[in-house]
Amino acid sequence: MTKERMNDVNNNPVVFPCENLTADENGHLLFVGYDTAALAETYGTPLYLLDDARIRHNCRVYLDAFKKYYPEGSLPLYASKANACKQVYRIMREEGMGIDVVSIGEIYTAKAAGFDLSKAFFHGNNKTDADIAYAMDCGVGCFVADNAEEILAIEAAAKQRGICQKVLLRLTPGIDTHTYAAVNTGKVDSKFGNAIATGQAEAITKLALLQPHVDLRGFHCHIGSQVFTEDVFERAAVIMIDFMADLRDTLGYTAAVLNLGGGYGVRYVDTDPYLDIAQKIHAVSDVLKAACEARAFPVPTIHMEPGRSIVADAGLTLYTVGAVKQIPGYKNYVSVDGGMTDNPRFALYGSKYTCVAATRLTEARVFPASLVGRCCESGDILQENVPFPSTIHRGDLVAVCTTGAYNYAMSSNYNRIGRPATVLLTAEGPQVAIRRETPEDMARLDV
Ligand code: LLP
Repeated sequence: MTKERMNDVNNNPVVFPCENLTADENGHLLFVGYDTAALAETYGTPLYLLDDARIRHNCRVYLDAFKKYYPEGSLPLYASKANACKQVYRIMREEGMGIDVVSIGEIYTAKAAGFDLSKAFFHGNNKTDADIAYAMDCGVGCFVADNAEEILAIEAAAKQRGICQKVLLRLTPGIDTHTYAAVNTGKVDSKFGNAIATGQAEAITKLALLQPHVDLRGFHCHIGSQVFTEDVFERAAVIMIDFMADLRDTLGYTAAVLNLGGGYGVRYVDTDPYLDIAQKIHAVSDVLKAACEARAFPVPTIHMEPGRSIVADAGLTLYTVGAVKQIPGYKNYVSVDGGMTDNPRFALYGSKYTCVAATRLTEARVFPASLVGRCCESGDILQENVPFPSTIHRGDLVAVCTTGAYNYAMSSNYNRIGRPATVLLTAEGPQVAIRRETPEDMARLDV
């Protein structure tokens, strides 16, 4: 038995996707050194766990690389859509990260956690007047504007307040990342942004430059999520720098800021590659600087917006098994006390996860089953074809690994199932970061 993997009796290795997962001699899954069975006993299931140290580590990888490779003032921004709660915003505050926010709810939560909103970038392809007003009144530092209507709405709101609002324009560089369709956002026909290829990027730049209360700082692009493709950030950087240099030559406007968005992929299963983020950032910076030099363009301040690669591998979800159903000649089901309400990612994207019987890691995994939830919906599947031990039964514990990103954030109350609690595992011990949702919570808005 090693720290990252342990073999079952048939010598099939269970390979854990992150080093915060280990096993003890009884075949219990440990997360951050905690026995998951004991955590389930104390806090109940389903339960989200978050590894405080891992989140901080992931932030520091970005912060250190930014300091090393990008010009002063450059800052990684945590894409808080991946997991937005006060404790996570507090960590971002303490670590010195910036944030990206997309709604009044995220702005409110960040503010409530004491986050300095001058380091927040406000995204979204359809900000309402109320969103714009709220963000300005809260002092959100920079808007990432998506379209002409929004530029005019920002101008009007800023004028009314007698301020000049910092703005970046979201562009689409025309890059296909070959990730799954729902998160492939850098292409010309994307819902988001303005295509360089069609001339719309230049047109919206001209519009923004005409607005007296809009301080156009530069440009943003986001090419996709769970991206492993070689070189796409480098290619995006070159396209963006070329566009910025063209604008300087044609309009005499020199943009000072370039935000390259988020998207680096994480390991959910052992066949996923391991990305060395620091090395990636180094490679992007080399290409970026060369592109600037080629056009004699001043190297801009750089932002990136990692979400998944900050929180995904800091998360784990624990469930208790209920029914184990065998349909001879067809398939097997292991049902748990959560499901698509706490993790809709398999239902939506067919996302892969490492799933294990958390107290039976030493047993042969000879019982392939669909891991399903408790919702009244056939698509309520957490994962297909999970190799479980044949002894798995009601009351057992199942862990789904790498659930820190886009799980709680995308959870729902379908069937009026309450959201699980989130427990943050810190150096001082476990702390409830989000309490379990009760039936009263779910009915509290009903009149
Ligand atoms: N910046 C922008 C403008 C974004 O739209 C996103 C993600 C990010 C940054 C962060 O990307 P990340 O580093 O997390 O890949 N619900 C999907 C993911 C949707 C991502 C949407 N935008 C999922 O569960 O896979």
